[in-house]
Amino acid sequence: MTSQIDHLLNETRRFAPSAEFAENAVASGELYAEAGADREAFWGRQARELLDWQTPFTQVLDWTNPPFAQWFADGTLNVAYNCLDRHVAAGNGDRVALLWEGEPGDERRITYAELTDEVKRLANVLTGLGIVAGDRVAIYLPMIPEAIAAMLAVARLGAIHSVVFGGFSADSLRSRIDDAGAKLVITADGGYRKGKVSALKPAVDLALADRNGSGVQETVEHVLVVRRGGNDVDWTEGRDIWWHDAVPAASAEHEAEAFPAENPLFILYTSGTTGKPKGILHTSGGYLTQVAATHRNVFDLHPESDVYWCTADVGWITGHSYVAYGPLANGATQVLYEGTPDSPHPGRWWEIIQKYGVTIFYTAPTAIRSFMKIGRQVPAQFDLTSLRVLGSVGEPINPEAWVWYRSVIGADRTPIVDTWWQTETGAIMISALPGVTETKPGSAQVPQPGITIDVVDESGTHVGNGNGGLLVVTEPWPSMLRGIWGDPERFVETYWEKFADRGYYFAGDGARLDEDGDIWLLGRVDDVMNVSGHRLSTAEIESALVANEAVAEAAVVGASDETTGQAVVAFVIIKENYLKQHSPEGLVSSLRGWVGEQIGPIARPRDVYIVGELPKTRSGKIMRRLLRDVAEGREVGDTTTLADTMVMSVISAQVK
Ligand code: WT7
Repeated sequence: MTSQIDHLLNETRRFAPSAEFAENAVASGELYAEAGADREAFWGRQARELLDWQTPFTQVLDWTNPPFAQWFADGTLNVAYNCLDRHVAAGNGDRVALLWEGEPGDERRITYAELTDEVKRLANVLTGLGIVAGDRVAIYLPMIPEAIAAMLAVARLGAIHSVVFGGFSADSLRSRIDDAGAKLVITADGGYRKGKVSALKPAVDLALADRNGSGVQETVEHVLVVRRGGNDVDWTEGRDIWWHDAVPAASAEHEAEAFPAENPLFILYTSGTTGKPKGILHTSGGYLTQVAATHRNVFDLHPESDVYWCTADVGWITGHSYVAYGPLANGATQVLYEGTPDSPHPGRWWEIIQKYGVTIFYTAPTAIRSFMKIGRQVPAQFDLTSLRVLGSVGEPINPEAWVWYRSVIGADRTPIVDTWWQTETGAIMISALPGVTETKPGSAQVPQPGITIDVVDESGTHVGNGNGGLLVVTEPWPSMLRGIWGDPERFVETYWEKFADRGYYFAGDGARLDEDGDIWLLGRVDDVMNVSGHRLSTAEIESALVANEAVAEAAVVGASDETTGQAVVAFVIIKENYLKQHSPEGLVSSLRGWVGEQIGPIARPRDVYIVGELPKTRSGKIMRRLLRDVAEGREVGDTTTLADTMVMSVISAQVK
């Protein structure tokens, strides 16, 4: 960590926006002054100017019961109306909302008028299935336009969606359906990934099957199925409904009802330090205000002329805020791509940018690093001159990748915005403004206007420029999480207890302030890993491992990895009888596969090491720090607090 920090701080390259860019930029530096003078007035203006309210709010923020915030609480609005109908009413119905590209190369262009029509029909279908405000709907879909329509139709009814990433297993889906008590699941037969149809419906069937004796009450009444993969599916009569039977037949008349600003909008599950994923709860008015404001300012969106593309899946928060809600609230035209970056050829993304004339491109460092590895000759075959803003999200971007991104993809011309935020923050919190900020490769730099961030020591004291510490948000913000679904105590404990006396939100990230006060993110300080920009908890993978009958004990660490940022590395103790009956290679490969099945392929360990013992303190706590040293091939650090100081040399020898 120390060498990484030193390395980052030696980065002295600076890139100022061109005069031309600055002149035409949507956001100016005056926003900071305005927000600094009166933060609540600033957010009130954003909410009024960016959104249409049915009942105007009279109070911006109610923080009388921290950490439970209420933003714009007496205002009412409809989120879907703000993303759809009002653009049609304003005469922009013919503007393309979605430029959808399927992995096999099929395409659909969907205007705002068409998307509005589809969402109205779907809202009527959902109403017919008994969905009312407050009900939970699970969405388990590939990256197809129906995924966006499904989110918006649920929002239109004031119901709550829980999108589950299509790469998650039946088990992960089941636990999310149960935790939220979902009444309906919207899925597809399958979707295209890496040139093949990857089935989804069987996972839904599995997740809903065989509840007898589990003690869990089945809440799902219906499964609405989109035909995309064309693969055969099992059918449960009375429960399963084809989208193509129900939606086109439904009425396209649907009046959007307004709901209070604090009406829940969605639950999204994310990993924490324990084995159980947290259902992060977001609400309507504050969330939509901040995603719309940041989408406009950070990406310098000119909705009449820009073609925007964020490569995130709707199963992650980036897909919620910067594929679904932000761009649609702002009336943007965007690309939506179903498949993987390298299918059927390694230049697929660059081909899409050329084909649609993408002007704003938002992706993750892990993707940039994998393209760097393949080499610049691949993007060089495509015309990328339409690009004018590039964004990065998900993990710290190392200066080398940042500079490669700017020079190879951005032709040494485009500003890069490195955006720091979290599932919990709902929207971008720290980022350059592309027409204002002189950017520094590797630094997320400055809080957004209206957002207050600090870097503090363990006691909550500001560390001062040139020092490192813990990243906190010092004041409530509009798109902040409102809680953890069904677990208010865990919400308080996880985010607010550490700096309770100051009322700071603790993000779980380490950060450093440079001499100018700019922020450099340094990764997680807890037992949460970041693999390819996705959060995974060590505890969750450990519980999956010990659930395997061959495993007696397991410890998981995140080891730094050139492409994925961090990689999952597992140390396992195998039960005696299994050790006798199976080869180590066989055990390792079956355990990697097992984790993939239990949680999903993103959680599959890069390495599994079979060891005889794990390093523990006298109180029995596993010292993951030492295992990380081994996993990263370093000399093992201080072992004096181990119960048995010999253990690490045995493990090191076993790993070699
Ligand atoms: C964690 C949140 C926000 C959408 C994607 C991930 C890390 C995120 C950055 C960045 C350094 C970053 C943090 C954060 N992170 N963006 N620009 N620079 N680190 O959402 O799954 O909720 O993960 O991702 O560690 O806490 P998430």
